[in-house]
Amino acid sequence: MSRNKIIASMDIGSSKIRVVVGVIDEKTGLPNIIGMGIAPTGSGIRKSQVIDVEETINAISSALEDAERMAGEPIHHVYLGVGGHHIEAVSSKGVIATNHPSREISEEDIDRAIEAAQALSIPANRRLLKVVPKSFAVDEQRGIKYPVGMNGIRLEVEAHIISGLTPSITNIEKCVLQAGIDINATIPNVIAPAEAVLTKRQKELGVVVVDLGCGSTTVAIFEEGTILHSGVVPLGGENVTSDVAIGLKTTIETAERIKIEYGTCLPEEVQERELIDLSLISKIDIHQVSRKTLAQIIQARYHEVFMMVRNELAKVNRDGMLPAGVILTGGAAKMPGVIDLARETLNLPVQIGFPQNFEGIIEKMDDPSYSTAIGLLVHGSKYEESGSGISFDFSKFNFGKTADLVKGWVKNLLP
Ligand SMILES: Nc1ncnc2c1ncn2[C@@H]1O[C@H](COP(=O)(O)OP(=O)(O)OP(=O)(O)O)[C@@H](O)[C@H]1O
Ligand SMILES: [Mg+2]
Repeated sequence: MSRNKIIASMDIGSSKIRVVVGVIDEKTGLPNIIGMGIAPTGSGIRKSQVIDVEETINAISSALEDAERMAGEPIHHVYLGVGGHHIEAVSSKGVIATNHPSREISEEDIDRAIEAAQALSIPANRRLLKVVPKSFAVDEQRGIKYPVGMNGIRLEVEAHIISGLTPSITNIEKCVLQAGIDINATIPNVIAPAEAVLTKRQKELGVVVVDLGCGSTTVAIFEEGTILHSGVVPLGGENVTSDVAIGLKTTIETAERIKIEYGTCLPEEVQERELIDLSLISKIDIHQVSRKTLAQIIQARYHEVFMMVRNELAKVNRDGMLPAGVILTGGAAKMPGVIDLARETLNLPVQIGFPQNFEGIIEKMDDPSYSTAIGLLVHGSKYEESGSGISFDFSKFNFGKTADLVKGWVKNLLP
């Protein structure tokens, strides 16, 4: 009996490392989830950058062990997700002449066009992480989703190209490798949550996925089944916490606790006289604070984050203009009132995103902060399907060959 393929993803976030294990379902090609593991990054990672190698390796090992225990399977490789506001995306065009005008456009022509799109100048300290072909043009005909089989002389591709700072990415990869795990592929987190929470129809209609994380907030806009724009806002839940600590004169630990236990984005729903007695939750902070003030501080920062999300929408003229609205994921999306504040600020319908159409232990991950790790697993299963789940070991750590990683996947990446 053939064994089903097991794959794992690892989301290295600013506050948590999450590992998800799945078995690829032969029929749907989607992973059935069989295990998960989580560990706080402690003082190993800050704003998605490694600041303490040993702490990071320990956290990685701990999340892996948890996941292996639950899945009952050893993990040797992961699809690794990396984040941070150094992750940037640009749109680039690649044009090629098809070899024989009479011949049909082949997958090889598409590969060449995508390679041409990648020939944009990425500074030496940045690494290409992902190339997503958005649409093609054959001669004068534009807006083609998959041109193989069509006839034409000139093939143009418009691609969404995501890169990140090489040292930041390499440091994370080194920690994973030192924890004894190989990396199938390194994927920018910004494109992951959408794979877990969006339906095909939402992607067609036009939608934005906003992942409210700890160190940053990612924005990924989809339309006509493909990515239109992505960006990273350098603010997240930890900024809310530090505002609370400063505003209410508490320690960071107390601020985090009261934010989660008493916080809301809607100060107008809190009574003026409602007080929080800090001595009940802290030995250091023993004063009382106004819950309304807490809510005002939280609202102000979330509002700022949503205004920055709005800027990202405006960059592609979609401010207030996406029919399927906003899908919120990430731990900071658990703040009460966040839907109302986002709706008001972004002028769009808003929902919290939950994993769609997965089987397995998914109910254990009924939490928007797992969307990135689950989405990475979906990306992983697509790579596996196209047979390019490439495994790196440290000796052949050659990052100049990203172009090769794109070849052959093209069809899988297309809507
Ligand atoms: N119940 C809650 N209410 C409000 N905020 C919450 C809640 N639970 C967690 N958070 C906040 O969510 C943030 C963590 O979210 P998440 O786990 O998605 O981040 P991360 O993936 O570790 O970081 P990043 O994606 O920025 O690298 C923290 O700032 C935390 O305070
Ligand atoms: Mg995250």
